Amino acid sequence: MCGIVGYIGPKRACDVLIEGLKRLEYRGYDSAGVCVYHAGRLHIAKSPGRISELEKKIAEDPAIQCGTVGIGHTRWATHGEPNEANAHPHCDLSGRIALVHNGIIENYAPLKRFLSDHGHVFRSETDTEVLAQLIGRFCQDGAETLEDAVRAALSEVGGTYGIAVMSASEPDKLVVARKGSPLIVGVGSGEYIVASDASAILEHTTNVVYLNDNEMAVVTRDSLRTMTLDNVPVSKEVEQIEWSLEQIAKGGHEHFMLKEIFEQPEVVKMCMRGRVDLRDMRIQLGGLESVTGALLRTKRLILTACGTAWHAALVGDYLFEDLARIPTEVQYASEFRYRNPIVEDDTTVIAISQSGETADTLAALREAKEKGALALGIVNVVGSTIARETDAGVYLHAGPEIGVASTKAFTCQLVVETMVALLLGRKRLLSQPVMEQYLRELAAIPDKMQRVLDKAEEIRKIAEDYVDRDNWLFLGRGYNYPIALEGALKLKEISYIHAEGLPAAEMKHGPIALIHEGMPAVFVTPQGPTYDKILGNIEEVRARRGKIIAVASEGDEGIRSCCDRVITVPDCPVALQPMLTVIPLQLLAYYAAVARGCNVDKPRNLAKSVTVE
Ligand code: M6R
Repeated sequence: MCGIVGYIGPKRACDVLIEGLKRLEYRGYDSAGVCVYHAGRLHIAKSPGRISELEKKIAEDPAIQCGTVGIGHTRWATHGEPNEANAHPHCDLSGRIALVHNGIIENYAPLKRFLSDHGHVFRSETDTEVLAQLIGRFCQDGAETLEDAVRAALSEVGGTYGIAVMSASEPDKLVVARKGSPLIVGVGSGEYIVASDASAILEHTTNVVYLNDNEMAVVTRDSLRTMTLDNVPVSKEVEQIEWSLEQIAKGGHEHFMLKEIFEQPEVVKMCMRGRVDLRDMRIQLGGLESVTGALLRTKRLILTACGTAWHAALVGDYLFEDLARIPTEVQYASEFRYRNPIVEDDTTVIAISQSGETADTLAALREAKEKGALALGIVNVVGSTIARETDAGVYLHAGPEIGVASTKAFTCQLVVETMVALLLGRKRLLSQPVMEQYLRELAAIPDKMQRVLDKAEEIRKIAEDYVDRDNWLFLGRGYNYPIALEGALKLKEISYIHAEGLPAAEMKHGPIALIHEGMPAVFVTPQGPTYDKILGNIEEVRARRGKIIAVASEGDEGIRSCCDRVITVPDCPVALQPMLTVIPLQLLAYYAAVARGCNVDKPRNLAKSVTVE
């Protein structure tokens, strides 16, 4: 998704902007650009493709290399193809105002018609240029300051935006605003860095001011003023970002995804720290204390999310019904608000999201709140929009997830769901001995995860042996059915191999027609209540000469006779199995993608954080 960086201070702006844009690369983009003020004018360089292309252009432009105030952008195309003309920054008619924008201006077409009728000429197909020209028009019509013009223009537009604007007429100033798209102002010593994402700021400072929706900020060389879009001053606290630069570097691994897969034992420990209390044998979730009473009255839970987080929600469905006996359902966030959902009294909606910025999940959350639900969040990014708009919630503490394919956030989502289910379960029906057993098993999960990770080499060989197959099936039952879906999603999103995930027993109702000689079928089949049943499904595939790869329990020697390959995971209670069984599937997808020469951390067509509907 698009990324914004802005800088004002003593340093060369282009260096800070490029470095910040590189930190935002993980979000996905297809063009990039910067604008820097120098000697009375704005100087712009833009390029489709990678940031290295933009750097070449900057190297040829001495004026851009001089300025100390500027804005930059990585664009992920929505309106118009990814070319130089459509890349940001965009200017007004005079070329003296430049703007970068994340989000979508929904009424850009009538505004463009209006401006065209008044002599404006457009150089791009973007909605963003319409906003830039509108701001220019308000300046031309007598707005006293850049912020007045921005405010006036924003009152005319519908849709979502995070913007950073600069003007050659007021060169020591950046104006930023947000509605539906995140923006943060980093407060350095003698400098300010504006960004859509904390990772672009961390190199310079950990002190930040978060803008809320419908707020703007005016940043000069020595001041930061924040106000609502209606110009009511807002006083803001400077907050601390907890993530370190080291945390967002690759740490010696070839890809962020591999680093994040291997970090799972550590981040799962972090996620449980202070929450799984083995001394008093209880779960403590400070983020839910204010709503525990309401949660206990809950008659129905709705879990809503997208993609991998939706798979975590499917596991949550089993956990909340099984451990806490609360009727639970899972809804795709993208469908939720369009189906006129029934939200009765005592309904709790939990939005699950790594980024906390996924547009569909945010919209589902807002719909749920509108209808009176208690709205909770299970979110990784601290201070993200979903985290701030929920009534209460639990952070994952998984650290920054840079690889587009979600891995460590997923396992932490499972851990948080388990902790919440146990907390409620204990208050409703679980006996203390059962609770204690779960707590001990949960605490043992990081070491067991490490035992699975130790099999990485074995899993790499399996991936390489089958990487030439174009279609794969992933099958599981019960708690491991969502893991089959997740295994298929991981494989397709980073290796571009077609894969389908299914509850194993569904296979005979249609998908079995796909099985042919040599087709890999990955069965997630550790010991559990449906183990014997799934053996029958394995035989069905074998009879059609498919290749069986099984994720099975350690010590299950019997399964080897009916499988081509077996990856074992340590034993644990069935409810916790997904935290272990997903790891071989993450590694399988990773090594298949590497063997195919794919760009693992930035798969084609995908963005890390999907902030458009
Ligand atoms: O940031 P979120 O968890 O809300 O993101 C939801 C999905 O977009 C995300 O999980 C996506 O499916 C990933 N590419 C999966 O690896």
